[in-house]
Amino acid sequence: MIALTSSNGSEITPSPIMRPSSVQATPQKFKPGECWFDTTGQPIQAHGGALLKHDGVWYWYGEDKTAHINSEVTWMTGVSCYKSRDLLNWENTGLCLKADPDPASPLHRSKVLERPKVLFNAATGKFVMWMHLDELDYHFSRAGIAVADQPEGPFRLVRSIRSFTYDYGWPENDPRHQRELGNAFLDFNLFLDDDGQAYVFFVSENLATIYVSKLSADFTDFLRPERLGITWARILPNRLREAPAPFKYDGFYYLLTSGCDGWTPSRTLLARAPNLFGPWEIVSDPFVGPEAANSFRTQPTAVFAAPEAPAGSFVFMADRWNPAELRDSRYVWLPFVMRKKSTTLDLRHEWSFDIFTPKPAPTAPVLRVTKKFATSVIEPSGIQLEWDAVPGADGYRAYCDGKPVAFSDSTNLTLPLGLPGVKLTYSMRAEALAGGQSLDSNIVTLSNSQPRACYLSDFYPLKSVTGFGELVFDRSWDGSPLRLGGRNFKKGLLAHLESETIYELGGAYTKLTGIAGMNDTHPGGCGFFVIELDGHRVFEKRLPGTNETTATIEVDVTGAKSLRLLTLAPEGIANGHSVWADMVLTPNSK
Ligand code: DGJ
Repeated sequence: MIALTSSNGSEITPSPIMRPSSVQATPQKFKPGECWFDTTGQPIQAHGGALLKHDGVWYWYGEDKTAHINSEVTWMTGVSCYKSRDLLNWENTGLCLKADPDPASPLHRSKVLERPKVLFNAATGKFVMWMHLDELDYHFSRAGIAVADQPEGPFRLVRSIRSFTYDYGWPENDPRHQRELGNAFLDFNLFLDDDGQAYVFFVSENLATIYVSKLSADFTDFLRPERLGITWARILPNRLREAPAPFKYDGFYYLLTSGCDGWTPSRTLLARAPNLFGPWEIVSDPFVGPEAANSFRTQPTAVFAAPEAPAGSFVFMADRWNPAELRDSRYVWLPFVMRKKSTTLDLRHEWSFDIFTPKPAPTAPVLRVTKKFATSVIEPSGIQLEWDAVPGADGYRAYCDGKPVAFSDSTNLTLPLGLPGVKLTYSMRAEALAGGQSLDSNIVTLSNSQPRACYLSDFYPLKSVTGFGELVFDRSWDGSPLRLGGRNFKKGLLAHLESETIYELGGAYTKLTGIAGMNDTHPGGCGFFVIELDGHRVFEKRLPGTNETTATIEVDVTGAKSLRLLTLAPEGIANGHSVWADMVLTPNSK
């Protein structure tokens, strides 16, 4: 057991987390989010990690966070290495890169080492590790590169470097001093292409943009001399994405990224490109269900191809961070299958690799509606759906008005009801990840209550995607009142650019009124506000965040079934806080 010294000098001995007897010593299934123990019964310490397969053995490298107990104790210990043949049972081979006692070293225990990733270089016979090195305030922001002769290490740090020197108009007070020191390097990932060329994806600038660069032949540096568009590229500019997890499928490159929100989980988006240097396009939000907005409380760390499974079978590796006690952060590994150049990521409570074995589509489940909750102030009113398990199914997908809204790997689910007076239909399909979907179950139609005038922000939308974090109801991001043009609003939806919010109106309303603008709390950032009814654009306005500019909305929504609110970033700078204030729906009078 390590004894740790807190900042006030007192000694802290962390209490051990040991495997309870109720948890199997040799797990047979992945249990996303549950504490995962190694072969000695200790919790696996491989956060922000990734896998390397070498000579038939899997190695899992990651951050050892045993010395992060609370905000008082944040010592870095080094990079852990585990090995396994079945990816479920992991033997700890110890720290393969250790913190350095020298206070001047970037590996000193008082500093930050994150997201280590390892490649094997067949030409040099060396194992090469990249890592993000930083100070506690995250302004050092460099790549660390270490090499070893064996997969278990020991790794030796050979470089600690910034990336290229390109001035993208750094502010006077650029916290990372990029004009002088070179562009920053934060969250990153390595990618080995089929032709043996290795690449590094990394977050640069002030978290604004991801870069991708070829690595040198020995993998220990960026390919130099660097040439924009030839050896490296700037991708997803100003999108504020991090935690890049690349993979390749069917000739296309894919990249999962999170939003930038410290240890707080955010929405994960999938980008795709025909070439590593682009053009990259965000193609989907692959997460479905109630916790999709925060990716089931996870942040990506890597994607690997499922072993001995059909092409397109992958595993998403993510961290569920526990910032109060980082050593007890959990791992969430989820299986997914690429289809039609995108995919869906579902939260499963347990699974094993046989989920990738091709099988026939299951038969349809029979849905029972067992409960209808009363409405409340903000109406998370819901219906409880239940069904009997269908043989061969490994999950069930719920549809609301024909759109997929939730997934369950058990036999019940609670879904929200819609706006007052709006009839929604609910149905369910059983599915097998490697076998397709059943036909629809019986279809259940439910309506909340009589239509009445209501604020949009009192109801959850059918769907919402925001560029950062989640849709916020009736307040600003920091909890203060919504404020447009110097005026406070009690009601409204706040969405970080770029955003999409969909409400089902079901033809029950005639008028939508409100005020659009960029929140005064975050001046700057220009928003392009768009309202669509059943796919037709009925309102658009470009509104710079000048504290002055707002637009009044009065839209005839008679007969419209679906309302789509979009806030886009016309200048490509996606850091504004867009507000739909006082949005009131008025119903049909009859
Ligand atoms: C988000 C990053 O993805 C993590 O690796 C870590 O750097 C946290 N930020 C720190 O707040």
